[in-house]
Amino acid sequence: MSHHHGHNGPLSPSERADALEEEKMHEMERIITKSTIGYLMEGQVTYDTAPGMKAKHPGKFFLMGEDPRLPRMPEKPTLVDYFRNRFASTAHLLQSANHALKGGQPEKVVLACLLHDIAVVSFIRCDHGYWGAQMIEPYVDEEIAWAIKTHQALRFFPDESVGYGYPDLYKGFFGPDYRPENYIVDEYQRARKHKWYMTSRLICLNDIYSFDPNAKVELDDFVDIIGRNFRQPKEGLGLDSSPSAHMWRTILWPTRFL
Ligand SMILES: [Fe+2]
Ligand SMILES: [Fe+2]
Repeated sequence: MSHHHGHNGPLSPSERADALEEEKMHEMERIITKSTIGYLMEGQVTYDTAPGMKAKHPGKFFLMGEDPRLPRMPEKPTLVDYFRNRFASTAHLLQSANHALKGGQPEKVVLACLLHDIAVVSFIRCDHGYWGAQMIEPYVDEEIAWAIKTHQALRFFPDESVGYGYPDLYKGFFGPDYRPENYIVDEYQRARKHKWYMTSRLICLNDIYSFDPNAKVELDDFVDIIGRNFRQPKEGLGLDSSPSAHMWRTILWPTRFL
């Protein structure tokens, strides 16, 4: 094993982590790059350049497919495969969907609850409602995607007529003085007048704001509802030609060079 640091003496923890990462990379068949967004999230405006990476890994080619560090996905992945192999946590989604199911709400609402935060658990937090809605839009009833997009805004605004108050959890999260940005306020005002307002409001009502570590809900309980309400593409989710297939492919192969 070779050393990649250029100085003597003990390594700092971050240098040690870098060296370990380097070593792991050298064992890989392919060069794995991190995209700009990965660096932006670490507070750096930079990216892995092709010449730089080639120089670091002589004789190797860039990764253009699955990342060997991640769980294997089947050749034609389904939404359920993403749940099992790409979603960092599913407890909140399952508990919310279960709440809707036990409340006797329509399957449309149950599926909306099951999918309302998929962007957070698989992709990105910022504007998760918008990302999540786009991801599923080609595969579900329009009303489901609209409701997921809009819960991004609605969850910040109370509706006493249905017993929804501003979540206490958010006071702890964002501080007592947080006020939603103008685009969120505008979205809320448009949503209030929309014919599907209540569907989105139901997502907020079924949203379990306090995580219950003891609740045991299985994805198996929702496989039939997914089957009836999510149009799984025959090529595999992400390998089809829908307007959001590339988003699923990015989650499938997050380190593909291009
Ligand atoms: Fe959410
Ligand atoms: Fe949620």
